[in-house]
Amino acid sequence: MLSPIMIDTTFTYSSPFPDTFVFGVAAASAQIEGAAFADGKGESIWDRFARQPGKVAHGDTLDVACDHYHRFDEDFALMAAMGVKHYRLSIAWPRLYPEGDGDLNPAGLAFYHRLFDSMERHGITPWVTLFHWDLPQSLEDRGGWTSRVTVDAFARYADTVVREFGQRVKNWITLNEIRCFTMLAYGYGTKAPGRRESAAVVNQTFHHALLCHGHGVRAVRAHGGEGARVGLTDNCDVSVPVTESPADIAAAQAWFLDKNLHVLGAIHGRGYAPAYLQRVGADAPKVEPGDFDLISLPTDFLGLNIYTATYVRAGREGQPYEALNLPPNYPRADSAWLHLVPQAIYWATRMCHELYGHGSIYITENGCGYNEEPVVNGEVIDLHRRDYLRNHLREVHRAIADGVPVDGYFLWSFIDNFEWEDGYQRRFGIVHCDFDTQARTPKLSARYYTDVMRTRTVL
Ligand code: NOJ
Repeated sequence: MLSPIMIDTTFTYSSPFPDTFVFGVAAASAQIEGAAFADGKGESIWDRFARQPGKVAHGDTLDVACDHYHRFDEDFALMAAMGVKHYRLSIAWPRLYPEGDGDLNPAGLAFYHRLFDSMERHGITPWVTLFHWDLPQSLEDRGGWTSRVTVDAFARYADTVVREFGQRVKNWITLNEIRCFTMLAYGYGTKAPGRRESAAVVNQTFHHALLCHGHGVRAVRAHGGEGARVGLTDNCDVSVPVTESPADIAAAQAWFLDKNLHVLGAIHGRGYAPAYLQRVGADAPKVEPGDFDLISLPTDFLGLNIYTATYVRAGREGQPYEALNLPPNYPRADSAWLHLVPQAIYWATRMCHELYGHGSIYITENGCGYNEEPVVNGEVIDLHRRDYLRNHLREVHRAIADGVPVDGYFLWSFIDNFEWEDGYQRRFGIVHCDFDTQARTPKLSARYYTDVMRTRTVL
């Protein structure tokens, strides 16, 4: 149960969001910047992957994307006009170190200084993710996430970034969604670099990513200066109890712990949990002395990307839980994995608080992807997205009212962008991007979110 100490009894279901609650929008370097080979930027694994036939829908590449590299000033002006005060972005590792390690590219540093200058001018606070999937191809050529070469290179990259920008950036996120750039990229092969390796190799990629998370925390503590804060962004597997009965809640918690052993379980332990080691058996990752000193360094907050969930109920015949398959007609967005389960936000944050004791949680992404939404008479009437946001924000609010320390919400995404293997057709933005003309058109959902941020109320 929730600790009564956490509950602010003056905050009720009808209160506005707390004054300190952060509303923001999010995006990532590879998905919006474009300028894939400009000013000395090195090739990323996604630049390479997208050029392989059949890997990305319609053969889309990251070469131009939203051309944010050249239009960031205009984009920040638009954000400011929409009332956005917090923006989660990522730094492109291959822009700074074209080879991943080796020589630093001064033009890359200069670009991000210009970008932060512009954000400052527009009154927008940066929340910077060190790694959002655009691994330098040169590191992949030397083993990528299967190799400790990548860990050493990341440690150096993280030190450079935090040293260089630590005066202007105070909110840091180490890595984005470990599962996606390890399991999906090296196991299922659906994300760059598109490899299909054994379970042992995939588990090793997880371990290396966890080490990089630790290095990110270490770098922020060493060079971040006063007021610097750091956390991981995880896309945990989320369970929602089928009914809110004690038995179903307990089952959903057991499922949650079980499914999240390899990331959340690992960063909270002083070593891998026995249940994890038992599950992976001979495929367990190789751990070197001192690894968990890094992996379990304390963080200041937990970032969660929440999109969907699995329904879980009390198990039968002695089983701890039963996860339900959704019926074929269960509502979903156009992304096939994105079933519409707004309670996911409530339960994910509540479980991270109750099960691991997190005292500060940010939703670092939440949003929905739909195909073509044409601009008609200057408008995009995305009522489906407006309703998605409303339903999810209500669950954030409910979590806070129940004493869960959710301190912020970043909407994914500010603008339609390169949705990885789904390309440009799958749109998550509250601002429409015409990829032929680069025209930006705020959608109905953008106007809605502006009103939410202004009133600090779910309307
Ligand atoms: C999570 C990822 O962090 C982001 O890059 C992606 O576009 C969204 N999910 C939507 O799939």
